[in-house]
Amino acid sequence: MKIAIDGPAGAGKSSAAREVARRLGFRYLDTGAMYRAITVQALEKNVDMQDEDALVDLTRRSELEVKSDDQNGNLILLNGRDITRAIRQPIVNKYVSIVAAVPGVRKELVNLQRKTSLNSGNIVMEGRDIGTNVLVDAEFKFYLSATVEARAKRRWLEMTEQGMNVPFDELLDEISMRDQLDQKREDSPLCIAPDAYVIDTTPYSLAEVVTKILSIVSHTTH
Ligand code: DC
Repeated sequence: MKIAIDGPAGAGKSSAAREVARRLGFRYLDTGAMYRAITVQALEKNVDMQDEDALVDLTRRSELEVKSDDQNGNLILLNGRDITRAIRQPIVNKYVSIVAAVPGVRKELVNLQRKTSLNSGNIVMEGRDIGTNVLVDAEFKFYLSATVEARAKRRWLEMTEQGMNVPFDELLDEISMRDQLDQKREDSPLCIAPDAYVIDTTPYSLAEVVTKILSIVSHTTH
């Protein structure tokens, strides 16, 4: 079974997708982490972010592996190096939507995502275009949304807990900017698949969102 979970930054996709996968005993794949990995590599190699050919070339030459860790999260290995923490740096947030808008980069990573699904059996895959492009034949599609303020607040709390001191307004601007870039790009922009269940997570806790998803999956399959 394939479960696709899409939505904008900060809607709670990663936590919900990972927990749903853990409860069902499915593999979890965070596709945003893959775009982030290429962004880390581009920053380290000083690739010009406007140079699409260089970004595609870099993606083709990168050996990207996404493994499951012992908590059903993802370990990101790039050319054998563990960059799981590096992909979450604030500078990566700033550039990742630019890298993810390049069609040649998307083509390479979408191939890898489909291959991973084929080799994994049951999977929960999370991103922006999973239900609309990567796994159009997924048995279940969910689109998680939340107001931009609620999403920025969640990110702010997360970062504050990790000891990072980022002004709330800065996060709000950054998330709004990423929404724009992810929704307006030409190649598979963020949008709601016609057959997706839409959940506005603004008033709900993570546990409530997970329960909603699991109840839809179990009601429809039993
Ligand atoms: O979910 P995230 O914040 O880690 O995603 C990082 C960026 O990658 C996001 O700005 C959009 C892009 N992305 C994408 O274009 N397609 C996906 N399937 C997943 C992420």
